[in-house]
Amino acid sequence: MSAGVHAITTGYFPRWDKDLLFNILNNIHDVVLVIDADTTIVYANEAYARILGVPVAKVLGRRLDIIEPKSGAINLLRTGKPAESREDFLASLGINVVGSSFLIYQEKKVIGCVSIFKNVTEVVELDRKLQQTRGVADYLKEQLEQWEQLPLSFKEYIGQNTRLKETLVLAAKVARTNSTVLILGESGVGKDVLARAIHNSSRRKEMPMIKVNCAAIPDNLLESELFGYEDGAFTGAKKEGKYGKFELAHNGTIFLDEIGDMSLAMQAKLLRVLQEKEFERVGGTKTLKVDIRVIAATNRDLESMITAGTFRSDLYYRLNIVDLYLTPLRERKDDIKALSKTFLDKFSRRIGHELTISPEVERFFHKYDWPGNIRELQNVLEHASIVCNSKSIEIQHLPARIIPVNHDSIRFKDKSNNAKEVVAMAERELILSVLDNNANNRTKAMKALGFSRRTFYNKLHQYGIQ
Ligand SMILES: Nc1ncnc2c1ncn2[C@@H]1O[C@H](COP(=O)(O)OP(=O)(O)O)[C@@H](O)[C@H]1O
Ligand SMILES: [Mg+2]
Repeated sequence: MSAGVHAITTGYFPRWDKDLLFNILNNIHDVVLVIDADTTIVYANEAYARILGVPVAKVLGRRLDIIEPKSGAINLLRTGKPAESREDFLASLGINVVGSSFLIYQEKKVIGCVSIFKNVTEVVELDRKLQQTRGVADYLKEQLEQWEQLPLSFKEYIGQNTRLKETLVLAAKVARTNSTVLILGESGVGKDVLARAIHNSSRRKEMPMIKVNCAAIPDNLLESELFGYEDGAFTGAKKEGKYGKFELAHNGTIFLDEIGDMSLAMQAKLLRVLQEKEFERVGGTKTLKVDIRVIAATNRDLESMITAGTFRSDLYYRLNIVDLYLTPLRERKDDIKALSKTFLDKFSRRIGHELTISPEVERFFHKYDWPGNIRELQNVLEHASIVCNSKSIEIQHLPARIIPVNHDSIRFKDKSNNAKEVVAMAERELILSVLDNNANNRTKAMKALGFSRRTFYNKLHQYGIQ
């Protein structure tokens, strides 16, 4: 060989010859691959077989543009770019590599390309795990504020009602399995709480339960929310791509809330994941496999949706391996007392003194229908705990919207006949009810009432509304 300026021969060092060169190439730990201008593989060192697990004899003479059309070497030959370092995914072998390639010339003509690279699949896997962990951490941070101090397990799940107990016993049984669970019941009955109790009693409890509210996310975003996306999959997508909820829930539980609000197109995509446990990111080609437990919930009547053609029956049967029905509060009024006590304890701690409900309020709670179920009971008591300045919650402390106008304890009964006082009390009620209708948003309530800022805050102060 002509060593040129790149190599010399000394008294100790033998002449450069082919054998010596090949010997050196074979001892390099990275893969060295040489292709000619037609992309035919003309050389691969021993590391090729060791690292990629394919005997060299099997690839010599084959065309790389057929085996790995997207590889770096092919890219250089196609574009004429002299050299490039990059990361590649070798689809034919399912591994990630990082390295560099450069064109080789003879008399200014490209005669081939050399690639030197190493297998970084493990690093990529580790990075994937790290990113998953980060994603989960971000998600949990987001959730932390919303989840407050909800019951975490069946033990803390409040309810003595027989029908509810039957449901809880079944839930505890199914929690230990990997079965898909469908939770049914009106809004506010405790479906989220039950899903969490199931997850926390399962073998997956050390891993996160990831919730997706299918109703809150527009259809075009739901797909990337569930499955993630590759970089540049659509305008507005983050540069580095994003993990989907299915990936975040790997080894844990995915909670698909409001499943009845999912479009038919998304239902089809979901069905595939449930059946095959695999999917692709939006804009991605790599198939990802996940190990997940699915809990779904809805307040809709899925069976009549099937009849109406708005819910896929095959998806319904996939989800409905075990269904758990939560009874509305109006059908388990025996639990109102215990539930009220838990919520009052919580609000008492918050406002710094003990709160109880008057016998009249208790009677009213039993008569009332609770269309918003447990969530409504909790909100009503929270409202009362703020409005009430004493220890006992009375009828007039409840949100005006739930008190019938002709309720026994007409608000101003034994209070006063003084016109000013009666007007003031009516005004106070009005403000409370407008606040309530505006989710306690003061600016909105102020506008609705037609008060100036100053008048509004004076009145709040005057009527002791906090
Ligand atoms: N068994 C229960 N014990 C205590 N609080 C409950 C219980 N069930 C529901 N809640 C409370 O009621 C509210 C509504 O529950 P949630 O699970 O969000 O209902 P859903 O998902 O059915 O609309 C939550 O704030 C939760 O704290
Ligand atoms: Mg819910």
